[in-house]
Amino acid sequence: MIVDWMEVSGNVVAITGGATGIGLALAQRFASLGNRVLICGRREYKLQEAAARLPGVTSIQCDISKSADRESLWRAASELGVNVLINNAGIQRGIDLKNGLDDMLSGEDEIETNLTAQVRLTASFIPMLMGRETAAIVNVSSGLAIVPLARFPLYCATKAAMHSFSISLRQQLSPTRIKVFELLPPTVYDTELKGEPMKRTEWSLSAAEVADAAMTGIAEDRYEIAVGGVAKWLSATKEERDGIFSGMNR
Ligand SMILES: NC(=O)c1ccc[n+]([C@@H]2O[C@H](COP(=O)([O-])OP(=O)(O)OC[C@H]3O[C@@H](n4cnc5c(N)ncnc54)[C@H](OP(=O)(O)O)[C@@H]3O)[C@@H](O)[C@H]2O)c1
Repeated sequence: MIVDWMEVSGNVVAITGGATGIGLALAQRFASLGNRVLICGRREYKLQEAAARLPGVTSIQCDISKSADRESLWRAASELGVNVLINNAGIQRGIDLKNGLDDMLSGEDEIETNLTAQVRLTASFIPMLMGRETAAIVNVSSGLAIVPLARFPLYCATKAAMHSFSISLRQQLSPTRIKVFELLPPTVYDTELKGEPMKRTEWSLSAAEVADAAMTGIAEDRYEIAVGGVAKWLSATKEERDGIFSGMNR
């Protein structure tokens, strides 16, 4: 039986990168609505802080770019009976491509974290999720999947790839019980993505506002949840997008 509506209570939800920012706000919302939540991330102290504050939330240390860690997350999720996977973990790096490949590939790998690991994690969860009565995968991409900021070239490319992947995944899973959502936030000013909180602008939202929009979208079975100004970007013409791109990349 294919269910028509995604319930936002009574689930067991796994959130990657759930100890800070948008992931933490989603963990708070899901926990407060009577869901069990499993959060993961690399920093144990952040996970412990979050789990201690939120009843119904447990944590597991996991670097999603590491295969053994993804397996541990899968096992913990399987034991808990997870039926919702939220691919939220992400990193963002400014890269000047004029400085060559060394600069691009040093340190954490954005393609691995923001794309490859999420695809692998998703593929490993699908058989488990297919066995649940109701199930969902929520991919947190970005408005920058639609209109890129050139100073974050790989970040935007991975988000555009996750946007496309979400469309194909939704189509492939349409005969199953697994619903595929994509959350496309605008700039969010109070997360750790940029290393430090940003000033609020007229285009930016808080993580709590994005989480609220996500919960509404999921409850309404809106599969592409474009938040704030991103909604207009999704339906913009090529000409309009070019205009937005020029304005953003001045
Ligand atoms: N902030 C924005 O303006 C904005 C806009 C649109 C979309 N987004 C997207 O929203 C998502 C959440 O970002 P955020 O803004 O809330 O930033 P954030 O506070 O930095 O959250 C990202 C989380 O991902 C975790 N993470 C990073 N690499 C990981 C890895 N390899 N394995 C496991 N966990 C990892 C981080 O924890 P550890 O470092 O402890 O691992 C952190 O908790 C990201 O996908 C981001 O691209 C953000």
